[in-house]
Amino acid sequence: MALQETLPHSLIHEIDFGTPRSKSEKTVTLSVDGKQVSVPEGTSIMRAAMETGIEIPKLCATDMLEAFGSCRLCLVEIEGRAGTPASCTTPVAEGMVVRTASERLDRLRKGVMELYVSDHPVDSLDRSKHSDVDLLETAEAVGLAEVRYGFDGARHRNPGIDDSNPYFSFDPAKCIVCSRCVRACEEVQGTFALTVSGRGFDSIIAAGMDEKFIESECVSCGACVQACPTGSLLEKKVIEVGKPEWSAITTCAYCGVGCTFKAEMRGEEVVRMVPYKDGKANRGHSCVKGRFAWGYANHQERILKPMLREKISEPWREVSWPEAIDRVASEFKRIQAKYGRGAIGGITSSRCTDEETFLVQKLVRAAFGNNNVDTCARVCHSPTGYGLRTTFGTSAGTQDFDSVEATDVAIIIGANPTDAHPVFASRLKKRLRQGAKLIVIDPRRIDLVRMPHVEAAYHLPILPGTNVAILTALAHVVVTEGLVDEKFVRERCEWDAFQDWAAFVAQEHNSPEAVGRLAGVPAETIRAAARLYATGGNGAIYYGLGITEHSQGSTAVMAIANLAMATGNIGRPGVGVNPLRGQNNVQGSCDMGSFPHELSGYRHIADDATRAMFEALWHKPLDSEPGLRIPNMLDASVDGSFKGIYIQGEDILQSDPDTHHVAAGLAAMECVVVQDLFLNETANYAHVFLPGSTFLEKNGTFINAERRIQLVRRVMAPKNGYEDWEITGLISDAMGYPMHYDHPSEIMDEIAQLTPTFAGVSFKRLEELGSIQWPCNEKAPEGTPVMHMNGFVRGKGKFVVTEYIPTDEKSGPRFPLLLTTGRILSQYNVGAQTRRTANIMWHEEDRLEIHPHDAEQRGVNDGDWVKLASRAGETTLRALITERVAPGVVYTTFHHPDTQVNVVTTEYSDWATNCPEYKVTAVQVSPSNGPTEWQEQYNELARKSRRISATIEAAE
Ligand code: SF4
Ligand code: SF4
Ligand code: FES
Repeated sequence: MALQETLPHSLIHEIDFGTPRSKSEKTVTLSVDGKQVSVPEGTSIMRAAMETGIEIPKLCATDMLEAFGSCRLCLVEIEGRAGTPASCTTPVAEGMVVRTASERLDRLRKGVMELYVSDHPVDSLDRSKHSDVDLLETAEAVGLAEVRYGFDGARHRNPGIDDSNPYFSFDPAKCIVCSRCVRACEEVQGTFALTVSGRGFDSIIAAGMDEKFIESECVSCGACVQACPTGSLLEKKVIEVGKPEWSAITTCAYCGVGCTFKAEMRGEEVVRMVPYKDGKANRGHSCVKGRFAWGYANHQERILKPMLREKISEPWREVSWPEAIDRVASEFKRIQAKYGRGAIGGITSSRCTDEETFLVQKLVRAAFGNNNVDTCARVCHSPTGYGLRTTFGTSAGTQDFDSVEATDVAIIIGANPTDAHPVFASRLKKRLRQGAKLIVIDPRRIDLVRMPHVEAAYHLPILPGTNVAILTALAHVVVTEGLVDEKFVRERCEWDAFQDWAAFVAQEHNSPEAVGRLAGVPAETIRAAARLYATGGNGAIYYGLGITEHSQGSTAVMAIANLAMATGNIGRPGVGVNPLRGQNNVQGSCDMGSFPHELSGYRHIADDATRAMFEALWHKPLDSEPGLRIPNMLDASVDGSFKGIYIQGEDILQSDPDTHHVAAGLAAMECVVVQDLFLNETANYAHVFLPGSTFLEKNGTFINAERRIQLVRRVMAPKNGYEDWEITGLISDAMGYPMHYDHPSEIMDEIAQLTPTFAGVSFKRLEELGSIQWPCNEKAPEGTPVMHMNGFVRGKGKFVVTEYIPTDEKSGPRFPLLLTTGRILSQYNVGAQTRRTANIMWHEEDRLEIHPHDAEQRGVNDGDWVKLASRAGETTLRALITERVAPGVVYTTFHHPDTQVNVVTTEYSDWATNCPEYKVTAVQVSPSNGPTEWQEQYNELARKSRRISATIEAAE
């Protein structure tokens, strides 16, 4: 069946109610054009009318923004009141009688439209001649038939089209200065990059200080483009390929916020991605990545045909799918016959769907016959799994994102939401502008510390590696100053464990005075922050990889959980412990049983009853011994006992620590199979390359940081021929363990059958509800927005003593600085996708942030090449001198393969989960002339791989 026959042919039209929903619980009844309507108090007349299906013409109003009342198009008549008030700014009242249509209103609206149109770049009202002028649609809607003032009069100020942004353009000629863009930038995004400059007829929308968009503080989230009612701000792709014809709802494939989009299409071409207002994670907003950076799907470097080579030193050879699959299966079987069943394994991807991830772990356990499966979550949030399971009983965040709207005090620790989780950051900023308080705990002065209309009450710029100490010091204040919520603790937690913990945190070495000295933060700031969190109302903690990627990552997660339980900040909206997940489906890949010791739903492989359930359905005995983690697979490879690996959608050479060791491990294997969109860095060591499919080309589900399961819908045929789950199925078939699925929905049915927390989940249910937060079962048929409401999943919450054990990684005379790493807004993870979009213009290279004092001491100027060296290795990059980092701390991103910052990171890892200690490395920085020898060699290898793919492409 052709793809088009399976897809909807119409554009999804979302109703615009004109003004936001009122949250009042009191209802008011009124009459609109003779129809009775009951709405919450505070609702606008415009919205009340729309609720009854009566659409009042509007230009400056939209339900994403507070009413503004500038265009005067939405006038109505109200019985007993003089004049014609604007319906968008007039609230309803009990018994009100409203008329939305009359001869007078008709005349007034036409008069308003006449003025707008006469100032527009048109010479008639004929829409066929001016198909790109959206305002004429509204003119037609109000019945405007003539413009008495003609079309040749004076026009407003027009400095010309601003085409500077790669994704959208601004045509001032079409602007009616309705301010929707300005308000969207303020209210929805919270960046305040746009203003109305000038007055009256001369007024115009200005970015920044009357600059080009690209030169201003604009973060290219696109909220202004979405808000513009005239097409003055418009996606370039719409101008290039025309208006969309049909659309489908899907989920962003970048970060763990999990924004929902309408993929608006023309044939099989994406025209634009429009954030979906009904998307419960994003509520109609997005960031530059999800809205604009999807062009990598068509990038010329994408590999679309399978490739083989005997040795990694040889060039790739394009082959058919059957030949490639046959090679994978025969190699894996040969290796197992020669070296044993445990000599091969697989890695699942946090970028792929739940169904794809589930199949990879099934392939390993049922077809390979071992448990050597792991996931890239190993290198990011595995301590979250361990820490939250130990304390609360389940490995996931406790809240939904809506919860932030009820938060009074937020702690952001080890996370940088404005860069890494931008849409959540916008929702948080909105709450902060409403008066909530913020505490930032981070070595770096992230944007949230101080930005337009947002200022943290406290910033604790701790030294990297001191999270556990600082969290325990906060707890010390809570316990010793009598701020514990004893009622909550007695009712909801293990009292004995609490007492042990309380006695521990009260010890002097955990006091702010003692900890402040080692963490580099004044004791009074620690005390004030603790008091604010404990007494300021609903307290929520949001954390990221700055917590987990440490040798004490799991301990820090438990310290956060302790703090939340001690203050009673668990189990209701507005509070909770919230890991901000990095990749789009890192939650899902963990939920699906990607760890070597756990089946889906976090059940231990050694549990006989659980295993028996899987064995019965899969018709295969399963090994009860946990398998190898990624670092153990690499160690075993270097030792000679591990020889083959199937890596789906993961670039371990770039993303895992100690690059030299990863390279040695991969090089020692006899069959490395990489399945990805591009020849990634790991593929330099691969023998088989299987081309993967993008999120636009597949059906399935992702699970975001809120445990929200959301559908991913295929809007175009896979350019490589297969969705990723189909490729895993082919390998399994060839290995002698056939898999029988016709659609990912059948895989989800199997997941639901085998996983109690997913028991109520199906594609049909997801279609009905839009999304579901697990657990979803008989007890919670529509899912669970907030966890641990009436009791913890483990019964009683468990306090855990969190002794601070400093990392062995210490600065000293040879390596006197501490390196920590992070992300930047425009890029995603190792950059494989975002580097292949126009987003590259915002981040052409990774830079090393260094404090002016440290730079001066080393004779380093801004932009100079510097050598960054640790005991693990060295790399070079250019310096960025900034006071964002404290003296003694340096920082960089890891988006570019030619920087390879993980050459520098060490082998240290979290004691409980092996999650690498990316966030603390003792380093030295010194002036350099440019890339190191190994970087040159490495880049040459990468260039060679790219040349080979280009050659193959040219030969076609
Ligand atoms: S650019 Fe669009 S949204 Fe902004 S003021 Fe002009 S017409 Fe309104
Ligand atoms: S990258 Fe994250 S915040 Fe941005 S659109 Fe995608 S899911 Fe939303
Ligand atoms: S829509 Fe009400 S004044 Fe513009």
